[in-house]
Amino acid sequence: MKTFPTSAVWCFGILFISASLITTGSSEVQVVGPADPVVALAGDDIILPCSLEPNVSAEDMAVEWTGLYLRTRNVHLYLDGRDSNEDQFPSYRGRTSMFHEELKNGNVSLKLTRVTLSDAGSYRCFIPTLTSQVKETTVQLFVGAVSQPVISIDGTKGWGVVLKCDSGGWFPEPGMEWLDSSGTILPADGPPEKHRDSEDLYALRQHVTVNKTDTNMFTCRVNQTEINHLKETEFHVPDDVFPKSHVGLIIGLSILLAVVVLAASAGVYKWRKYTEEQRERLEEQENECRKLLEEQVKGFKLIRDMKRDAKFVNRNKVHLSQNVTMVTIAFYLICSERYSEIHVARTRQDQMRLFYEALDSGGKKVKSDFYRILLDLEPDLVIDLGKAEETIQSLSTSPGGQQETQTPSQKSERIEGMEMKSLPGPGRKSVPEMKPLLAAGPQNDDLDEMERGGRVTTDNNSML
Ligand SMILES: *[C@@H]1O[C@H](CO)[C@@H](O)[C@H](O)[C@H]1NC(C)=O
Ligand SMILES: *[C@@H]1O[C@H](CO)[C@@H](O)[C@H](O)[C@H]1NC(C)=O
Ligand SMILES: *[C@@H]1O[C@H](CO)[C@@H](O)[C@H](O)[C@H]1NC(C)=O
Ligand SMILES: *[C@@H]1O[C@H](CO)[C@@H](O)[C@H](O)[C@H]1NC(C)=O
Repeated sequence: MKTFPTSAVWCFGILFISASLITTGSSEVQVVGPADPVVALAGDDIILPCSLEPNVSAEDMAVEWTGLYLRTRNVHLYLDGRDSNEDQFPSYRGRTSMFHEELKNGNVSLKLTRVTLSDAGSYRCFIPTLTSQVKETTVQLFVGAVSQPVISIDGTKGWGVVLKCDSGGWFPEPGMEWLDSSGTILPADGPPEKHRDSEDLYALRQHVTVNKTDTNMFTCRVNQTEINHLKETEFHVPDDVFPKSHVGLIIGLSILLAVVVLAASAGVYKWRKYTEEQRERLEEQENECRKLLEEQVKGFKLIRDMKRDAKFVNRNKVHLSQNVTMVTIAFYLICSERYSEIHVARTRQDQMRLFYEALDSGGKKVKSDFYRILLDLEPDLVIDLGKAEETIQSLSTSPGGQQETQTPSQKSERIEGMEMKSLPGPGRKSVPEMKPLLAAGPQNDDLDEMERGGRVTTDNNSML
């Protein structure tokens, strides 16, 4: 039984503590403001948030909104269930209000219309009737000002165009930058020039020199990070604003020059080639002419020699018939059609007659051939006859004249200066010695051999 009162005391104690705790909790109503500052642009309507937590009705409470400057300004006062702004700071007149229908939810936020830059600062939301420790909160208001940048062309520099970006009416001080169409930041001509206008707003100006691009689109961007605002203006630079590049002209001129030079050199080359060809053709023609002339001369010489040889044979007919050996005749006759006829003739006289007939019928050519065989086989005889003729001539005409014309060709020159032999030459083989040779006919081995040699000789002669 004794334990009961003790437990009862304990029970009551716990209850009391609980109750007092709950009572204390309900009385601990706090004023709560926003975690972040309120950011606005000049001219905006804004709400400065403030509420009770837990959300008890504030309808019967007093709410004081004040501005915290060097001196505290009365911004808004709610008292005795109504707005009571008799002592309101003039600049807020007619611009403040509270949400009366929200008061029962503990929403004591202040609405401020048409904020100005001078509204920026700290605002205190104060509920003096609260019994708790936290009867007030502070709300930060940032008021900024922005404006659209304006871009203009400010001349040219080098091959580029200088652009100017102007943007005034900013608050707080913004940043400015230039970008190309791909969003790459361009190097500006310098840091932005800044100045503040009469309303303490910032005005910025920055130049950039841009080069020609695919799009020729450029952007000026002004931003203010504190008020989280950014303004951009795009600008298109017309192509013809860029200084006329003479590169194209220079390249064109260079190409033209190159073409002209090429054409000229090609012309010179062709002309040279042409004259070269012409010269070569002329030379060729000249050579041909010379060759032709030489051949003609040779032909003339041949004919002249032939005539001379034939004359020699004619002149010395009698002497030759007595002194020419049968070997020589044989050599000649082998190529003659009349060989067999002469061969069968019985007497030497007949043979010689027939032989001379053959010679005569053959004309100069045959006589000349014979002369050459004679020169080959019996040079001595020819020389002797030639010298005899000379002697006769020198006797009949003036001494030492016309010696060259009568001198027989090369072979005789070889033996020139030899002692002149008597006419007819002594030691010459007599005709009868040759007779058996001729009579033996072509079957004879010696004659066969001679025939072969003879043919070569005559062939050579006829080829001359
Ligand atoms: C306050 O509480 C009431 C109910 O207790 C609720 O309906 C209301 O939405 C609350 N208000 C706020 C601002 O939290
Ligand atoms: C207070 O009321 C206003 C107006 O209805 C509203 O915009 C604001 O969000 C409310 N504040 C809170 C903290 O509930
Ligand atoms: C705003 O400007 C600052 C400096 O002027 C710059 O550092 C920042 O990147 C800019 N922000 C934007 C989003 O352009
Ligand atoms: C423009 O071109 C010049 C050279 O032609 C160069 O030095 C300059 O950096 C360029 N400017 C830009 C913005 O690209």
